[in-house]
Amino acid sequence: MNNLSVPHLLGIQDLNLSDIQTIFKTADAFKEVINRPIKKVPSLRDITLANVFFENSTRTRLSFELAAKRLSAEVVNFSASNSSVKKGETLIDTVNNILAMKVDMVVLRHESPGAALFLSQHTSAKIINAGDGTHEHPTQALLDAYSLGEKLGSLEGKKVAIVGDILHSRVALSNIHCLQKLGAEVMVCGPSTLIPKHISLLNVRVSHNLREALLWSDAVNMLRIQLERQEAEYFPSLRDYSLNFGLTQSLLDSLDKELVIMHPGPINRGVEITSEVADGSHSIILNQVENGVAIRMAVIYLLASTIER
Ligand code: CP
Repeated sequence: MNNLSVPHLLGIQDLNLSDIQTIFKTADAFKEVINRPIKKVPSLRDITLANVFFENSTRTRLSFELAAKRLSAEVVNFSASNSSVKKGETLIDTVNNILAMKVDMVVLRHESPGAALFLSQHTSAKIINAGDGTHEHPTQALLDAYSLGEKLGSLEGKKVAIVGDILHSRVALSNIHCLQKLGAEVMVCGPSTLIPKHISLLNVRVSHNLREALLWSDAVNMLRIQLERQEAEYFPSLRDYSLNFGLTQSLLDSLDKELVIMHPGPINRGVEITSEVADGSHSIILNQVENGVAIRMAVIYLLASTIER
């Protein structure tokens, strides 16, 4: 039975609170499964999932692959960099050829915002957005909020600062939607050049001062500078960025409060966060990665329940 209000997972914007709660409750059950000696259930033996990645990934691709395998689904992995995309094949043709091999679900990572929506409108497969350009990364936001909830309990009224390259970040937008739907308050913090001009329309606070953001928040999600998406110079140097917006242990110690430290990865150690903080006792970075498998199992399982078979 599908308890979600959506046929695909394209973005957090499309989900309601009940969808998010259903995903979290289902993830609770799967988290228990993946902590057993035999980390597998036979639920989706008749389903085939394709991981279709047009951009690099470590966490998301492996996490979706493990999630599908732990549900006993079959998995194929497609990476554009060594495929016939290099010979000029389009996204639609690529995916329709994959679907012709009797694939039921496509997990898509693509550099273009809206690519997952586009596929959902032009193919018959269930689509899960694994990051579309600077737009959304819904499973990242779900696993972030789930992990934060494990640490803080209900997120209602909690304050979360998202720090860094908000302008180019799909993680930021998905996190803002997800945290707000769960009742949290959100602040974004970074240099003014890396904060979208109309961000306040999303009902978030804005700060250009890291210390101020940290003093306000219960948790902080540190984002990396996405140099691969930057077409201009947004700050004088990485050293300048790090001095103003890098999270260090001495800064944390000076606050005299406990903060939950998050990062979606990949980390640029010594730029947005020091190793001491990333590996410190308040960091839940690896919990986020662990929970990613249970969250993705939940999403795959819930969406698969509406596939005709
Ligand atoms: N957080 C995240 O999306 O990491 P990858 O790019 O390694 O998948």
